Amino acid sequence: MEGDKGTVCVTGGTGFIASWVIKSLLQEGYSVRTTVRADPENRRDLSFLTSLPGAAEKLKILSADLSDPNSFDAAIEGSKAVLHVATPVDFQNKESEEAITERSINGAVGILKACLRSKTVKRVVYTSSASTVVFNGQEMDMMDESFWTDVDFVRQKLSPNAHSYIISKTWTERAALEFGAQHGLDVVTVIPSFVVGPFICPKFPGSVRTSLALVLGNQSEFFNGTC
Ligand SMILES: NC(=O)c1ccc[n+]([C@@H]2O[C@H](COP(=O)([O-])OP(=O)(O)OC[C@H]3O[C@@H](n4cnc5c(N)ncnc54)[C@H](OP(=O)(O)O)[C@@H]3O)[C@@H](O)[C@H]2O)c1
Repeated sequence: MEGDKGTVCVTGGTGFIASWVIKSLLQEGYSVRTTVRADPENRRDLSFLTSLPGAAEKLKILSADLSDPNSFDAAIEGSKAVLHVATPVDFQNKESEEAITERSINGAVGILKACLRSKTVKRVVYTSSASTVVFNGQEMDMMDESFWTDVDFVRQKLSPNAHSYIISKTWTERAALEFGAQHGLDVVTVIPSFVVGPFICPKFPGSVRTSLALVLGNQSEFFNGTC
C-alpha cells in the first residue's frame, strides 16, 4: 500500500547516498519508488534495499537508465517529489567527457520532462556537487550560489580523471535549474562536498574509499573520487 505521506521517487537506489535517502524516507513513512539500472541476468543483489524496514510495503524498485531519458516515466508517475541522485561516474576515463556529460544532461532533462508530464510532482531535488562551484581559480573563504566552476579552468588545471565528473555535474546542474525556470517547475539543487561515513549499499563508495586513502596513505587511490 502506498502511504498517506505520498510517494517520492529516488533515482539510483543502488548508490551510497540514495540508499540512505531511501532508508530515511521509509522511516519517515513515505512510499518510495527507486530506479536501478537493468540487470537482465539477475546478478545484482538488492536485498540491502528490499530488507529495509517498511520496504516490503512501501518500496518499489523499477529499472531506468540515464542513457534512456524516457525510462524514468513509470517511476515518476504519481510521485509528489523526485530526488534525482543517480549520476554517471567515470574516474577511469573509460568514456569521453562529452559522452558522460551528454548522458548526464539528457538523463536529467528527461527526468524533468517526466515530472512535468506527471502533473503530480511538486518539487525536484537534483543532487549536485561542490565540484560545480569551487573549481574556478578563485581563493575564497566562502562561496554562494553566484559561484560556478569554470570548465576551462578544470580542463587546464585539474587531473583528466576528474574532468568528466566535474564538467558533467556543472552543466547538468545548470541545465536542471534552467529547465525549472523555463517551465515553472520547482527545481532545487543540493551541493554536497565530500560525503563519508558508514554505508548500507554493498559497493564500497568512491568517496569513502578516497577519504580512507588519505588516512591510510594509499596515494594511488587518492584521486579515484572527487566531490
Ligand atoms: N559521495 C560524495 O562524496 C558526493 C559528493 C558530492 C555530490 N555527490 C553526488 O551525490 C550523488 C550520489 O553520489 P554517491 O556517492 O552516492 O554515488 P554512487 O554510490 O556512485 O551512486 C551513483 C548511482 O548512480 C547510478 N548510475 C550511474 N550511471 C547511471 C546511468 N547511466 N543510469 C542510471 N543510474 C546510473 C549508479 O548505478 P549503478 O549502481 O548501476 O552503477 C548508482 O546508483 C551523485 O549525483 C554525486 O554526484 C556525491
